[in-house]
Amino acid sequence: MEKLNGSARLMIVSDLDHTMVDHHDEENLSLLRFGALWESVYCQDSLLVFSTGRSPTLYKELRKENPMLTPDITIMSVGTEITYGEAMVPDDGWEDYLNNKWDRNVVVKETAKFSELKLQPETEQRPHKVSFLVDKKSAKEVVKSLSENLGKSGLDVKIIYSGGQDLDILPQGAGKGQALAYLLKKLSSCGKPPNNTLVCGDSGNDAELFSIPDVHGVMVSNAQEELLQWYSENAKGNPKIIHATERCAAGIIEAIGHFKLGPNVSPRDVGFPYSKEDHIKPTDAVVKFYVLYEKWRRAEVPKSDSVIQYFKSITHANGVFIQPSGLECSLNASVDALGSCYGDKQGKKYRAWVDRLFVSQSGSDSWLVRFDLWEAEGDVRLCCLTTLALNVKPETSAGFLITHIHKTWLKGYSSADEEFSKL
Ligand code: GLC
Ligand code: MG
Repeated sequence: MEKLNGSARLMIVSDLDHTMVDHHDEENLSLLRFGALWESVYCQDSLLVFSTGRSPTLYKELRKENPMLTPDITIMSVGTEITYGEAMVPDDGWEDYLNNKWDRNVVVKETAKFSELKLQPETEQRPHKVSFLVDKKSAKEVVKSLSENLGKSGLDVKIIYSGGQDLDILPQGAGKGQALAYLLKKLSSCGKPPNNTLVCGDSGNDAELFSIPDVHGVMVSNAQEELLQWYSENAKGNPKIIHATERCAAGIIEAIGHFKLGPNVSPRDVGFPYSKEDHIKPTDAVVKFYVLYEKWRRAEVPKSDSVIQYFKSITHANGVFIQPSGLECSLNASVDALGSCYGDKQGKKYRAWVDRLFVSQSGSDSWLVRFDLWEAEGDVRLCCLTTLALNVKPETSAGFLITHIHKTWLKGYSSADEEFSKL
């Protein structure tokens, strides 16, 4: 949150499974499209919040398997754990607050009396969350008697049914909605309430997000029956909530457009040749650069000199590229080398994307852009910590020139990977 000088232009609070991440899309295309849009347009002045039912263990697994961005804030275990930044620093105040009228042992003892409840794996049992699997048929009845029993034991709990199978028991003050309300209050108290908030979800544990005052909401097209039912009983006719026509992250992009929250054209959907922008945005320039780089290697742009000419036109003739190995070469020579890599990743499930983009102005028309450049091929994933220097030059054909790129392997590097990362 420290990155913001003032209010966030947009705060997106999104569920992950079947909302941000489409488990039926092997190519992860909508996730990649959203990521490129966020990094090119919003990352500097907006907040990305992930709100998931997953525990930290399963959340980290999901991140390893999918091309996901690093959020500013992560809410896990159905709104019972809040952490900040890449380092995932916990919000201890929130967890202390949840101790109110909560006794985990009583929950465990009372739930043991229900044979319909099957305990979820150990990783998903958390200090303020006890989770089970229960089939749709028994769910209603179990929830009813369970809440009576726990009430009699003096506990104030919340029972949530999601995805037609998961049953979570949390302190009454917990949940995705309460966690969001807490965050909004925290942001307001330091004078930075977001200008707009968009909540995104697909299942039962997301319903609370949609009842927070003043937020926009999108239920993705593939939303579960239980969420749609909650909507028709509690929020029907609310113009601030839509049921998208698109699945998962594509539905989020659709909602940004529908509610006019800002630009919603992903750089991945912008065809080549790129048109010259009036105002160069360094974040947009970098994202588009690596989108084109990926498309060239996947042979998704025509094999034409104009692409390499374009790369040449945006790289300074005396510019330097410091390769991850430490080898130094000219940017122009690297572009030439890229020229001969056309289609080298065709049909290979290869993707390139940027994360944690950070821009600082180093002169009146010069910028330093810092980011993680990820490149993946199937299960192999590599990341370079990258610094790129760029000058705004209205007289050039693209309006800017890259003068320097410096890459350092961050994770998972072996010498065999040296050829992987070209620019
Ligand atoms: C995630 C969690 C699980 C929880 C479910 C619904 O799948 O791993 O523990 O029950 O979300 O909230
Ligand atoms: Mg979900």
